[in-house]
Amino acid sequence: MGTERDVRRQPKLRIGVAGAGTMGRVHAAAVAASRRGEMVAVVDADPAGARLAAEWGVAAYRDVEDLPSDEVDALIVAVPTDRHAALTEAAAARGWHVLVEKPMARERDQAQAMMKACAEAGTRLMVGQVVRYFPEYVRARDVVEAGGIGQVAVARTFRGGPYPRGQDDWYGDAARSGGLFVDLLIHDFDFLQSMWGRPEEITARVRAVEGRPRHAAALVRFPGGLAAEVVGSWLHPRFHTRFELAGSAGLLEHHSLERATLVVEVDDQQAAAVAVPSSPAHRSPYQDEVDDFIEGVLENRPFQAEPADALLALDCALWAQRAAEIGEALTRRDWEATS
Ligand SMILES: NC(=O)c1ccc[n+]([C@@H]2O[C@H](COP(=O)([O-])OP(=O)(O)OC[C@H]3O[C@@H](n4cnc5c(N)ncnc54)[C@H](O)[C@@H]3O)[C@@H](O)[C@H]2O)c1
Repeated sequence: MGTERDVRRQPKLRIGVAGAGTMGRVHAAAVAASRRGEMVAVVDADPAGARLAAEWGVAAYRDVEDLPSDEVDALIVAVPTDRHAALTEAAAARGWHVLVEKPMARERDQAQAMMKACAEAGTRLMVGQVVRYFPEYVRARDVVEAGGIGQVAVARTFRGGPYPRGQDDWYGDAARSGGLFVDLLIHDFDFLQSMWGRPEEITARVRAVEGRPRHAAALVRFPGGLAAEVVGSWLHPRFHTRFELAGSAGLLEHHSLERATLVVEVDDQQAAAVAVPSSPAHRSPYQDEVDDFIEGVLENRPFQAEPADALLALDCALWAQRAAEIGEALTRRDWEATS
């Protein structure tokens, strides 16, 4: 992994944040709290940009082209999804490393172009697949991979909350956000694929209200007969996540609104339920994500999820979206032949 700019001798990575909305604010706080990151600029033409910059005492720019190349080492891209590719490519052209929010891009060819641009520029690219840092999901995958609940046959995941209010209602425009599969359920596709690889077949449905996607479900069949039901919703008053993985030797459950957010119940009369600490999320997963990016760049080491993983998650989400559009099961062969 070569880096055009040798940042490894630097004590800190100088970071600009593009987008001062919900996620830009989260990332700015994480950079400011990090050990080896330094917030140096905010880019956003909206007045929110100048406000966020003032909060952290850094420079504000209206456009990424205005940000002097030699003042930053890396850019965090936290803008609406349809603009991820343009900003990532602009950053790579300036020699900056990039942490781009999930979904990596709106379209697969955009994601591939982002990877190519960064590879050619010799800069690192990380996608904010933040579920890779949520302890319940990390622990569940470890348990499954260690055979803790035997052979998994059935999986159910849920992720949902209120309808998101992005700038100009961009989440409601599927052409920009990709809708529920691409924007929200990409996390669960990433989680499931990281354990079981590419699906064999997907059946999916979306319920829209006034043209905006509000509730979606996919039935995903993985190799070996494993079936997963993946549900996402923008109809719930409180954001929460759940999963249930049923294996030949036990069950693994998580519900983010309950105190013990991960319980492993083994099919053994002697074994008590094994629960990870009642509040495993002592640290913010978003902080861990930003720290992984900073340390990964400064130390030139791999990230928890590489862009190829994020691309697979995006591809699976687009596949589910397509299956919902045609209203029929879409096999992997048919998806690959038409996409
Ligand atoms: N990982 C997660 O848990 C999570 C949660 C929410 C959103 N997201 C993702 O984060 C991204 C941002 O979402 P959000 O909810 O923060 O959006 P938002 O609508 O709250 O904010 C977007 C901001 O980007 C600015 N912007 C638009 N184009 C720009 C450009 N070219 N340069 C600089 N700034 C620009 C807008 O003015 C706005 O202030 C999306 O891709 C979304 O899917 C991830």
